[in-house]
Amino acid sequence: MLTAYDYPTAKIISNTGLDSILVGDSLGMVVLGYANTLNVTMRDMISHTRAVARANPPQLIVADMPFLSYEIDTKSAVKNAGLLVKAGSDAIKLEGGEEMKDTVKAIVKAGIPVMGHIGLTPQRFLRLGGFRTIGKTKQEEDQLIKDSLELEDAGVFSLVIENTYVDIAKRITEKLNIPTICIGAGPYCDGQVLVINDLLGLSEFTPYFAKSYVNLKEIISNAINQYIIDVKNNKFPEKQHYKERES
Ligand code: KIV
Repeated sequence: MLTAYDYPTAKIISNTGLDSILVGDSLGMVVLGYANTLNVTMRDMISHTRAVARANPPQLIVADMPFLSYEIDTKSAVKNAGLLVKAGSDAIKLEGGEEMKDTVKAIVKAGIPVMGHIGLTPQRFLRLGGFRTIGKTKQEEDQLIKDSLELEDAGVFSLVIENTYVDIAKRITEKLNIPTICIGAGPYCDGQVLVINDLLGLSEFTPYFAKSYVNLKEIISNAINQYIIDVKNNKFPEKQHYKERES
């Protein structure tokens, strides 16, 4: 699984063997320039989900429910999940553990597949005391195991485990029947997810657990500088780039 937030990226992904696309609320940080995901709105998520869906990719499209779109009451959670499906997603993802059980059940009851997300849940970084690895204490570890089992019981079809210790992610994966998809939680999960900007070398900051497979920032910057040089030296536009009137 990889994130995607726009039409051209989803078009490229369409022709790859990737299984699923996450229209993640990481959008707030890597595309919209916010310091965290808290300012991402339903309007943002709907707009970017529509853009990805317009590419008509064969992959499963999962859209993130943004902060405060599902925590207030189950009615508004179901409505907002429905709006993301109407925008073109095949499923939604929401953050949180056992406290989200009723919400998950209500969304699933409405016919919408739900992906869970535990471990580091970035929408709760304030309460967690920052963007940190979760599961250091016995209490946190036990809570993660409990959260995963309760979410499976509530009906999530898959579970993202973010930024926890490798042995905890392994234990959860062994305990659950549904697939786990990990980021920053080691290799013993059923799948992996990355933010595409990290994979492409486009991020301002790439976390230690992400891998850049190419340095697009450098490639793009070189292309822009070459364009500037060409324009200044009358090397662009060339004959094939403009039309002359026939006299
Ligand atoms: O928003 C996002 O990109 C995510 C992934 C990090 C799993 O939730």
